[in-house]
Amino acid sequence: MGERIQPETSGEAAPHIPVLLDEVLAALAPLSGSRVVDGTFGAGGYSRALLEAGAEVIAIDRDPGVRSFAERLSAEFPGRFTFVAGTFSELDTLATGPVDGVVLDIGVSSMQLDEAGRGFSFMREGPLDMRMSGEGTSAADLVNSLDAEELANLLYAFGEERKSRRIAQFIVAARADAPIETTLELARVIEKAVGRKPGEMHPATRAFQALRIAVNGEFDQLVEGLFAAERLLGEGGRLAVVTFHSLEDRIVKRFFNPEKGGPAQSRHLPQVVREEPRWLDVAKAAKPGPAELQRNPRARSSTLRGAKRSAAPARPVSYEGLGVPRVRGAA
Ligand SMILES: C[S@@+](CC[C@H](N)C(=O)[O-])C[C@H]1O[C@@H](n2cnc3c(N)ncnc32)[C@H](O)[C@@H]1O
Repeated sequence: MGERIQPETSGEAAPHIPVLLDEVLAALAPLSGSRVVDGTFGAGGYSRALLEAGAEVIAIDRDPGVRSFAERLSAEFPGRFTFVAGTFSELDTLATGPVDGVVLDIGVSSMQLDEAGRGFSFMREGPLDMRMSGEGTSAADLVNSLDAEELANLLYAFGEERKSRRIAQFIVAARADAPIETTLELARVIEKAVGRKPGEMHPATRAFQALRIAVNGEFDQLVEGLFAAERLLGEGGRLAVVTFHSLEDRIVKRFFNPEKGGPAQSRHLPQVVREEPRWLDVAKAAKPGPAELQRNPRARSSTLRGAKRSAAPARPVSYEGLGVPRVRGAA
């Protein structure tokens, strides 16, 4: 199994522990001699295990901070490992040639969460940034520019935050004095708005998730990435996707099973023509067991779904029926 990569210096954020690794490898098997795209390279935990199992790996990540991990694997597995900087929404153009498997491990890495300067954590003081690629609109830009209604809609749609209106009002009131620039400033405003009960989830958890998803366009990336994998993989190719919350998992589940969740067919209506399935052998969702959770509590909310590509031609990209949350009023 993949040996964990150790931090090079003390004080460096601890590297990401790969989640559901055995299950991911099983979902992509057989691996020896295959070519696999790791669309979310991170610290390279999946890539390393795939390489050790005899696969060739093309790894993608949008975060320039993962370079040192990629360089290490290039040196260790010459000719079998390639790293490409970019987003997995374009994985079918970043990876060329025949590909047997694609893996996506959606969300943030432990390095991103733990590095205060990235601004992902409400527990660590840092700039309110949250940009995985370091480019584009930051969380501070959103928090200081959206009006109260837009903010509330964003927190509700992307974070399922039930107290979104109250939080948005408190944010707008707080920033009237001075812009909210740091993670802890925002966490304090949220705490003031909704209070904090001992033993309960931190009140800023959902708001931070919502902002991170918005800043990085994570739902759009997921949908585009799934369809890109569908285009890239030929018959028999395998796709494995690990998600970290129910909103993402719902998208993956519906993508693999478009027939499920659709309108029930009445026997009095003409039979609707069913499309040929693009995905076969859709596996039941896998969750981490007690041993993994003890080793890595951050695996807590992860879910793996995997399936095998059929011979049917890829579908055009469509958000319909996937249950992708949309921010009301946004374009
Ligand atoms: C959960 S971590 C992956 C960890 C990896 N499986 C490992 O074992 O080390 C997610 C990684 O995907 C990257 N990422 C997230 N969204 C992305 C996207 N749309 N395109 C490319 N990389 C993305 C993040 O920068 C982060 O490094």
